[in-house]
Amino acid sequence: MTRENRKNEHVKLAIKPESIQPVTHFDNLSFVHNSIPEMAWKEVDLNSKFDDIVMNLPIYINAMTGGSNKTGEINAELADIASATGIAMAVGSQHAGLRNDSLVDTYRVVRKRNPKGIIFANIGADVSIEFALQAVDMFEANALQIHLNAPQEIVMPDGERNFKGWLHQIEQVIQAVHVPVIVKEVGFGMSTETLHLLNDIGVKYVDVSGRGGTNFVWIENQRRENKEYNYLKEWGQSTVISLLEAQEFIQSKKMTIFASGGIRNPLDIIKCLSLGAKGVGIGGPILRILKRDGKERVIEEINEWTLQLKSILTILGARTISDLQTCSIVITKDVREWCELRGIDVMRFAHRSL
Ligand code: FNR
Repeated sequence: MTRENRKNEHVKLAIKPESIQPVTHFDNLSFVHNSIPEMAWKEVDLNSKFDDIVMNLPIYINAMTGGSNKTGEINAELADIASATGIAMAVGSQHAGLRNDSLVDTYRVVRKRNPKGIIFANIGADVSIEFALQAVDMFEANALQIHLNAPQEIVMPDGERNFKGWLHQIEQVIQAVHVPVIVKEVGFGMSTETLHLLNDIGVKYVDVSGRGGTNFVWIENQRRENKEYNYLKEWGQSTVISLLEAQEFIQSKKMTIFASGGIRNPLDIIKCLSLGAKGVGIGGPILRILKRDGKERVIEEINEWTLQLKSILTILGARTISDLQTCSIVITKDVREWCELRGIDVMRFAHRSL
């Protein structure tokens, strides 16, 4: 199986409804409604900043494609969508382009189509410093994502089996590249313990990318002849739980946290922002609309979501993204139980005020 075929298979499987992890914990979070918002819709400011990067909207298209001709075409369409809506985007893993010159254009196309856009490069935690520098240079990336995907590799029939040395490699890359480095998961979420390890080596930006959306255990298991890993399909922490696990770092401002994994609607985005995420990544849902209805429909959907984000901030009485962190939110059921057992204070969220 070549890397190119694998990329195409990932897309084919990721657009199937069965690839979506059904358990999302967003339903365990409820905002406390306040009948007197005392603000106007037009006052809402959706800007989000990290390092020197200003995102007009607190959402971005997460890493998915590039590395084969077909997925290069998808990258071109995603870049058009990012350009038309003004949102940031990431390309999929650049390993294929770093090893095969003929595939470089399947990534570079995102800069060609969106010269002024905010674009993230993407590599794994095992690549050399030289490759990391090349990945950023490939299209003058504004930031570099490094993905952590051990469960995916293990279930992948032709996947990596040695996960030694990642921390050391990430530490070296952060020191070598001149753009912000965002360490991300791929839909399995993160724990406080993982975040401590990353913080200790100088990681400043993390996308917890949790369970609840695109499920790479399911996707890779479908690619196995005997589908032996079906039982592993609920592996990992949800996006909501990952954000709660990250509270120590969010509150102390030691790290800037992004969220992704299982975002279904504008309210899910608002919930992530309210738990302290700086921005929210969307992957599979955008790909599915793109493949089904085309790029114009995705642009319409993102524009509609933007209006709805403003509407929800208005009823919450929040003018900015950071105001959302002062809106009271009640945490119930499974998420509450998890937090109690992990020593995460849920009461604090139920009693916040502007
Ligand atoms: C991904 N994702 C991903 N992530 C990454 O860091 N490098 C990659 O190459 C890929 N490739 C990829 C391909 C496809 C087809 C999909 C759908 C996803 C993971 C992605 O960035 C994100 O972390 C997860 O998909 C969870 O978000 P959603 O899809 O639930 O919104």
